[in-house]
Amino acid sequence: MTASEMSLTRQAVAELAARIRYHQYRYYALDDPEISDQAFDALFEELRALEAAHPDLRTPDSPTQRVGGAIAARFEKTRHPALMLSLANAFHPGELLAWRDRLRRLLSEAERDRLAYVVEPKFDGLTVVLHYTDGVFSLGATRGDGEFGETITANLRTVRLLPLQIPADRAAGLAAPARLVVRGEVYVEKADFARFNQRQLEAGERAYANPRNFAAGSLRQLDSSITAARPLKLWVYQALIVERGPALSSHWEALAYLRSLGLPVCPDVQRFTDDEFDQVTAYVEAFSARRHDLPYEVDGLVIKVDSLLMQEELGFTGKDPRWALAYKYAAEEAITTLQDIVVNVGRTGAVTPNAVLAPVQVSGVMVKSATLHNEDYIRDLDIRIGDQVVIKRAGEVIPKVLRPLVDARDGSEQVWAMPATCPVCGAPLVRPAGEAATYCVNNACPEQLVRAVEYFVGRDAMDIAGFGIKQAELFVAQGFIHDLADIYQLPWEQIRQLEGYGDKRVENLMAGIEASKDRPIHRLLTALVIRFVGAVV
Ligand code: IVH
Repeated sequence: MTASEMSLTRQAVAELAARIRYHQYRYYALDDPEISDQAFDALFEELRALEAAHPDLRTPDSPTQRVGGAIAARFEKTRHPALMLSLANAFHPGELLAWRDRLRRLLSEAERDRLAYVVEPKFDGLTVVLHYTDGVFSLGATRGDGEFGETITANLRTVRLLPLQIPADRAAGLAAPARLVVRGEVYVEKADFARFNQRQLEAGERAYANPRNFAAGSLRQLDSSITAARPLKLWVYQALIVERGPALSSHWEALAYLRSLGLPVCPDVQRFTDDEFDQVTAYVEAFSARRHDLPYEVDGLVIKVDSLLMQEELGFTGKDPRWALAYKYAAEEAITTLQDIVVNVGRTGAVTPNAVLAPVQVSGVMVKSATLHNEDYIRDLDIRIGDQVVIKRAGEVIPKVLRPLVDARDGSEQVWAMPATCPVCGAPLVRPAGEAATYCVNNACPEQLVRAVEYFVGRDAMDIAGFGIKQAELFVAQGFIHDLADIYQLPWEQIRQLEGYGDKRVENLMAGIEASKDRPIHRLLTALVIRFVGAVV
């Protein structure tokens, strides 16, 4: 092979690897693949073959060298009892009024007088269809393409809020329906999502893009024990089939019935009569601010005609029911300049790139920094210093950079590379083969130690009252702590000399440390910052 042929092959390998990374990103991070599994497998095979023919072109960060990079095997398919339709969207109060006018035109005068609406949050999770036969949870599926879903019964059984038998409370004296099929949403609370992602990153594992994607990824695990360890929650919001149950004439009644069976039905639902429609619009606008205080993500509200008979009469247009409307809130995104990328050192030594941003308001909060996850995220999205970037502040505590505006480039943007050495201690940074994270491998790195101490004394671990990041930084800087065991042999006489460490403070701290000696062994094991050992293991 000539040198120029070789260089062409090298380029082909690099381009193929980049395409594969992009599709992996769409599949795993966005849960939104652009190509079929077959097309993906073909790309992967092509790269594998090229690398086999030219082993010197195989780089340690090639997708072929990564464990767990392949697309999961398939689940069985379930045909839904009815098409799982989607919802038409509205973004302005005017569209809400237009929808109501249309309904009123389609209904008879008698019906118009009885017209009422139920307003519920639009939960941002993964739609599931749950079947109960003679009161026993017998089948669960994803929405899939609306006609067929993936059968994920075993995984759904691990969702604690999902009753395996209904009525969940046998003592209530309620009979089980012969058959019940309901539609609901499996989701993850914002705080649980943030906690999980933080742990993933620190363990050098992949972080999920958002709670919705996390819920979807967790439910699609082939190993149910992985799903079981994920903090999945459930809301049920529609009765699709009720056989040998009470006669239900409205959605409002159906929700009450599902609740009485022990299914999780969101309490944040409201009913309005048609006369009160001005209250619907007011409620929708007021909810826009309130939704940030909810523990789960809501991307809008769903407004439904309450009467089941009217729902049936109104029917569908295309794939959307006429009787319901999704009122969506604008995404909380903003555009700003990426001024720099800095790296932070975590307790395991994992270094995380962070965006330094020109300050910008996003849904009422000033944002100056955002997470960039890891080296691959930056490279796969081709994020450059100086870029205009789209940032998003969703439910997550830490905002994130979604993408650069490539068209806004003027050529002065700089491609970023992971530094070769730790910004704190100067030790070399290492990225193990097959991992997304890069590490500072110096066990004595002071920043790692501060972070490890912070974690050790924190609420998820030994829970030492009066001990936080301030004390961790101070005691490490003073040379009182060289490893975690030093927390139990602090030089109290020297600490009493420090400013702000009077008798009361020191006594409280000593009492907190003493109390931590009674924590159960699993807490201690978690606290020690052993790689791959977390709350679950
Ligand atoms: S009712 C015929 N109610 O949003 C459609 N859907 O964009 C009946 N969703 O895939 C759906 N929260 O799975 C309904 N309170 C809620 C919902 C909800 C979330 C999902 C639904 C659908 C998507 C439509």
